[in-house]
Amino acid sequence: MKVFVYSARDYEKPFLEKASLCNHEMEYSVLALDNNTAYLAQGYEVVSLFTSDQASDEILDNLFENGVKYIALRSVGHDHVNLEKAKQLGIKVANVPAYSPYAVAEHAVALLMALNRKIILGHLLMKKKDFRLDQLIGFDLHGKTVGIVGTGKIGSVFATIMKGFGCNLIGYDEYENINLIQQTQIKYKSLEELCKESDIISLHCPLTPDTKYLFNRNLFSVMKKGVVFINTARGSIVNTADLIEALENNIVAAAGLDVYENEKNIFFKNHLYKLIDDEIFNKLCTFTNVIITGHQGFLTNEALSGIAKTTFENINNWESLGKSNNDL
Ligand code: NAI
Repeated sequence: MKVFVYSARDYEKPFLEKASLCNHEMEYSVLALDNNTAYLAQGYEVVSLFTSDQASDEILDNLFENGVKYIALRSVGHDHVNLEKAKQLGIKVANVPAYSPYAVAEHAVALLMALNRKIILGHLLMKKKDFRLDQLIGFDLHGKTVGIVGTGKIGSVFATIMKGFGCNLIGYDEYENINLIQQTQIKYKSLEELCKESDIISLHCPLTPDTKYLFNRNLFSVMKKGVVFINTARGSIVNTADLIEALENNIVAAAGLDVYENEKNIFFKNHLYKLIDDEIFNKLCTFTNVIITGHQGFLTNEALSGIAKTTFENINNWESLGKSNNDL
């Protein structure tokens, strides 16, 4: 198969090469798929996309005209692809439904720990030879209540880790996870109850029309004052302007964000010496109680290897059987 890989980063190429077993003719581009780059796929039956790529109506038309028949996503989330349009065009789309949920769950814990124990501030002060502790007080996680929104693969791992810290768990999901209840005694409640009762809230649901801006001014206003808010799911689940307001009102004491609603224009690129033309993002960056990472939750060796393996299983199955288990 001729496979065109958009948004290909140097760090993932060795994993993709290994998983392809040299059975495919690969072309990599660091460029993201958009209206200006869709033509690059001309002559390729398969394209592989990441979350930084955009496969909207017009772009899918473009890919179709260029001969693309299969889209192999290198991600769980597929909110960046118009699946309905792809179906109309007869382009099949497959995702990587699971690859080390530990990578993202552990990153959420890392953000929480860094915020709570003021690791970054402590390090910066130490670099300035200021070893005073006045600004560095945290809290015990033990005995705190953690609200987990979305208790699927990643949310469940996060729940299990937080249970290990001695936290009480509240879940909100469309479906109750019976195994998780048995394992962690998590209690499912309404989203509003979860917000009212949680000391820490962590998001692990997908971005869908139902979850777009699920976290907005109304929901922030019912949260416990001083809540720590973690989002490693998708940026648009949160209305960022409303989060900023909640930070200013001291409702949210600290926020750890691996995703941002307009991240496609910002993340995965080097902006050194350039202005970032995004007022909300720039404002968010001014808060000392906000840690932002650039969508790196998935970035472990195990996850990269899992993503590459499943991507090529999908492509190989489509080539030989006309479908894969992960077709959306
Ligand atoms: P999953 O499908 O195993 O779990 C998602 C859970 O969310 C399910 O239990 C589902 O019932 C629940 N859910 C769906 N709609 C909901 C709603 N309206 N309200 C509450 N719960 C709802 O998915 P997984 O693997 O746990 O991934 C979760 C999300 O994490 C992905 O959709 C993706 O957006 C994000 N992610 C982020 C990464 C990163 O690098 N930061 C990497 C991988 C995934």
